[in-house]
Amino acid sequence: MEVRVQNVRKEFDRFPALHEVSLDITSGELIALLGPSGSGKTTLLRLIAGLERPTAGRIFFGDEDASEKSVQERNIGFVFQHYALFRHMTILENVAFGLRVRPRSTRPASGEIRRRALELLDLVQLSGLEKRYPSQLSGGQRQRVALARALAIEPRVLLLDEPFGALDAQVRRELRKWLREIHDRTGHTTVFVTHDQEEALELADRLCVMSQGKIEQVGTPDAVYDHPQSPFVFGFIGESSTLPVEAVNGGLRLDDQPIGIASDAEAGASRLYFRPHDVELVEGDAALHGTVAGSRRVGGTRRVELDVGSNHRVEIDLPFDHPAAESSRISFRPKRWTLFPAA
Ligand SMILES: Nc1ncnc2c1ncn2[C@@H]1O[C@H](COP(=O)(O)OP(=O)(O)O)[C@@H](O)[C@H]1O
Ligand SMILES: [Mg+2]
Repeated sequence: MEVRVQNVRKEFDRFPALHEVSLDITSGELIALLGPSGSGKTTLLRLIAGLERPTAGRIFFGDEDASEKSVQERNIGFVFQHYALFRHMTILENVAFGLRVRPRSTRPASGEIRRRALELLDLVQLSGLEKRYPSQLSGGQRQRVALARALAIEPRVLLLDEPFGALDAQVRRELRKWLREIHDRTGHTTVFVTHDQEEALELADRLCVMSQGKIEQVGTPDAVYDHPQSPFVFGFIGESSTLPVEAVNGGLRLDDQPIGIASDAEAGASRLYFRPHDVELVEGDAALHGTVAGSRRVGGTRRVELDVGSNHRVEIDLPFDHPAAESSRISFRPKRWTLFPAA
């Protein structure tokens, strides 16, 4: 089911949690709402679900205006970080619940409900555990039951709010892969909220990066990582270094010294951004020069912190066998970089 969020604004007691947000969610895609805590991700999800009403704007499910529809009418599947299962029900009863409480006219026969619930438990790889109670499962298994329960009602849209947030890193990674596989098999339109960029980059077809109640950028993980459209996105997704520079005569300068980067930017102050791994060591004056303030091994490379003068620090990656001795001098140039107007 395609979902369109159109100019939606949401205020809580006049505090704007979302400002004029618009987002087109394609049928069958897995889109991640990614942003720091308080950026409005949960609010946007709850508006799509129908748990909140927009202060302004509309939400469409396909061609139908769903803005005034209830949660039940929207037929949404949910999984929350702490969406507790029913403790007094078995796993099977938990999964079957959404179908059992349907009005008689749309409720499947009880044999059919059982068959579907067992099929879903198989899908989430929990076959054989149907008679257990939630307290007899691990955290990861409980979230898989929660997902099976959400899928049981055959939702038009699946909404997941930091579903793995309470689990440890190893389990999170496993569930992430597993969720992607389930999504590919079932093809539900899925909106996944996370503040974890690694999770979003690995899992999602597209990212919707949010900050302070606004959408900063929407695109594939590659597009967002390679072409951040704002300083916020550059800084939030992936590693980044930044320096205040001056555009002068077709080149960039730091503290009045040319740094070996040609640019046709308008003359004046700007902000240079680059990734620590997108740099090359160079000889000669036209470069950035720094003294090593510290370094640490990060996987197969050495991340070096450089003091480039006037209290500016940047990080660059060097081969791990580079000595990068404390206080030694290193000259380098970003191979790829982005310039944003000075704040
Ligand atoms: N029910 C509410 N009443 C008042 N303020 C709220 C309510 N829900 C969310 N907010 C505020 O709206 C902003 C966005 O919150 P939220 O959507 O939960 O962010 P996120 O999920 O990205 O952490 C925050 O400043 C939060 O305090
Ligand atoms: Mg939240």
